[in-house]
Amino acid sequence: MKLEHKELIDLLQSAYSAEKAAAFAYQGHAGSVKDKTERSAIQQIEVDEWNHRKEVLEIMKLYGIPVSKYYEIRFYIIGWFMPFYFAGSLESGNVCEYFRMKHFFNELGIKDHDQILYEMGMKEKEHEVYFLSKIKNNKLLPFFEKIFSWGARKSFNNVNLDEKYPVESSDINCKK
Ligand SMILES: [Fe+2]
Ligand SMILES: [Fe+2]
Repeated sequence: MKLEHKELIDLLQSAYSAEKAAAFAYQGHAGSVKDKTERSAIQQIEVDEWNHRKEVLEIMKLYGIPVSKYYEIRFYIIGWFMPFYFAGSLESGNVCEYFRMKHFFNELGIKDHDQILYEMGMKEKEHEVYFLSKIKNNKLLPFFEKIFSWGARKSFNNVNLDEKYPVESSDINCKK
């Protein structure tokens, strides 16, 4: 039987492809979670999504609805993009944590940790730049940047790897 319902066909096709994007996103997420119970819960959700995809495909087959190449590609990109994006935005926030620790220690007159905190902050910046480089030219980025306030133009810190301040004069970093 052929379905005379354009919207329904489109919905089936996009749901089928979106399940894969979700599964990929959860795969990336599970890998980043340390807690074992939490990790297996997320892995179970991933399994659920793969099962949904199978079920949706069964229904599509019944009515001779083909898999949409367009949706497969589009959702593949989204599923791939999201873990990079959120990793980058997380790293972006971590940068200033270390510089602020340094500021606070210095307020207490403690300078012993300056070097290590500086190095850790700079390393987080490198991580941020790495993740950003993977998605910089992705068409999804401007949209995500608008909503989550991080991306090619916006960062959660003012650290610039191209003009590194030596540790002694690095207090310009992350000062409000
Ligand atoms: Fe699902
Ligand atoms: Fe990091």
